[in-house]
Amino acid sequence: MCGIVAYLGDKQAQSILIEGLKRLEYRGYDSAGLAISDGQEIHLTRAAGRITVLEQNIQDKGRLHGTLGIAHTRWATHGKPTTENAHPHFDCTGKIALVHNGIIENFSTLKKWLIEKGATFSSQTDSEVLANLIGHFYNNPSETQAENDNLAGRFEKAVRLALHEVVGTYGITVICQDHPDLMIAARRGSPLVLGLGDNEFVVASDAAAIVQHTTQAIYLGDNEMAVITRQGFRTTTIDNVPVARQTEQIEYSLDAIELDGFEHFMAKEIFEQPQTLASCLSGRIDLTEGQIHLGGIASLSRDLVRAHRIVINACGTAWHAGLVAEYLFEQLAQIPVEVDYASEFRYRNPIIEEGTVQIVISQSGETIDTLAALREAKERGALTLGVVNSVGSTIARETDAGIYLHVGPEIGVASTKAFTGQLAVLTMMALYVARRRHMSQHTLAEYVTALNQIPQQIKSILTQSDMIRDVAHTYSDRENWLFLGRGYQFPVALEGALKLKEISYIHAEGLPAAEMKHGPIALITPQMPVVFCVPKSSQYEKVISNVEEVKARGGKIIAVATEGDKLIHNYADHVFTVPDTHEELQPLLTVVPLQLLAYHAAVARGHDVDKPRNLAKSVTVE
Ligand code: M6R
Repeated sequence: MCGIVAYLGDKQAQSILIEGLKRLEYRGYDSAGLAISDGQEIHLTRAAGRITVLEQNIQDKGRLHGTLGIAHTRWATHGKPTTENAHPHFDCTGKIALVHNGIIENFSTLKKWLIEKGATFSSQTDSEVLANLIGHFYNNPSETQAENDNLAGRFEKAVRLALHEVVGTYGITVICQDHPDLMIAARRGSPLVLGLGDNEFVVASDAAAIVQHTTQAIYLGDNEMAVITRQGFRTTTIDNVPVARQTEQIEYSLDAIELDGFEHFMAKEIFEQPQTLASCLSGRIDLTEGQIHLGGIASLSRDLVRAHRIVINACGTAWHAGLVAEYLFEQLAQIPVEVDYASEFRYRNPIIEEGTVQIVISQSGETIDTLAALREAKERGALTLGVVNSVGSTIARETDAGIYLHVGPEIGVASTKAFTGQLAVLTMMALYVARRRHMSQHTLAEYVTALNQIPQQIKSILTQSDMIRDVAHTYSDRENWLFLGRGYQFPVALEGALKLKEISYIHAEGLPAAEMKHGPIALITPQMPVVFCVPKSSQYEKVISNVEEVKARGGKIIAVATEGDKLIHNYADHVFTVPDTHEELQPLLTVVPLQLLAYHAAVARGHDVDKPRNLAKSVTVE
């Protein structure tokens, strides 16, 4: 949820840290700060608010000199988003400075103990407790049998001992005034990447802050630590057992995380979908043979094909993709599917019988609830498959096998291109299994042809952006919206409502269209915009009846319909069209006008689309 960037090298750290914070700002933007060692002392600057406020503070106070530094952009958990609660945090002797992502669950017990030992605190955060705990062990070597260690060894030992006491999750980078050539990074549950440059190291919670310096990186595993000096680094477990980590190539270029002329990342990512989907489908759909190749799960495909049941776990938008997958796998592959919010799954003693395959879906690959659901299912014996975007992320590494989306980094907090990537991957998975169970080659070839047309079809939908903007402007002052759809379009309706909620702060509900008459129809007034996802499908006539019900009560109807559908114009006040395709592929198209609708409504209301209130891109706390 928060962003960490840290630097040790031969350049001045300040501008590298600020630049890194800007690239990570989508992870949290309540407050920010940095601490830089000038070789003698560590100097701190922090600010409540955006990185620009921090920059202004630095300009006012004067530049911080030094080639070792740590920085943080915060999404508040413990304590309000004030300057005092912003990171970095020092221990009470002022020697140790730390940035922390995650939650220290036993922080109040530790704090009490530290206060008894004489520590003092200046913030309400759990992170300052960890800084003080490290400081306590560092300053009391007799308590830890570290009297005979050299000072650097004592510092390292203090970090290890402190992390042993911690219950909860952390990604930390910590420096000490006595050691201007040393920085320590460690993680449990919160991602950390160590970028390996020329005579320099950049630690970050996300490769986005590293890629302008180097594309060579080490992804730290859970319960691992990197001890980094100017000469090199070593990776160990928290218990100091050496760990050999492979250097990996960061998969994307700087261009992928630039705005590229767009005003917001969300807009860029919506408009990128023809290319991102082409990249997602590339090498996987085979037009010549009419086949689907999924290398990522090939070795385990027999187990998937023979699955008795599929359990899907995810959160938010990814959960909506999971709901579409429920229709896909049941309809196409005839495998029973259960979709559960990842956050609920492990708290209901889930039943995982022989032959259960779990699919976890996550853009970031770091969502803690999804990770916990994955670990729960694995523990209970399920075969686990991941549908993940972030290469090398924790979920991608912990699943038995998986398929990457290949849609490039998603920066906008509101997920768009990852959703269509998830739908494409899940559709290919369902078709792949269906073919191996009963689907004819001819039928599969038809789907493959249709899938291949999707990127081009999305391109044509995007040409309606100006018209969608006008509709969004017309209704952007309405505080309540409904999104309705049936079958494959029900999860799309949920996704349309979520998009509107999270960036426009408009109350929106997504419902199966037929459910409306069981209660929500009472809400319909001429003030209420009702968005119907009603492409030509097996349920088209039934949805039209629901449209009529809303019309009869004076609701304003916005329809997403198939090109050439004349009937819908008799009912709808506004129609956005999508090209015709197989019913199973329609969500890939119908969601696009809804993404644009939410985007334009948020802009019309004057919101910061990429940094919506109270939200952060990756939710790594429970
Ligand atoms: O990274 P993940 O896909 O695991 O994230 C899951 C949700 O937090 C995410 O989809 C969230 O709902 C988005 N902000 C929706 O736009």
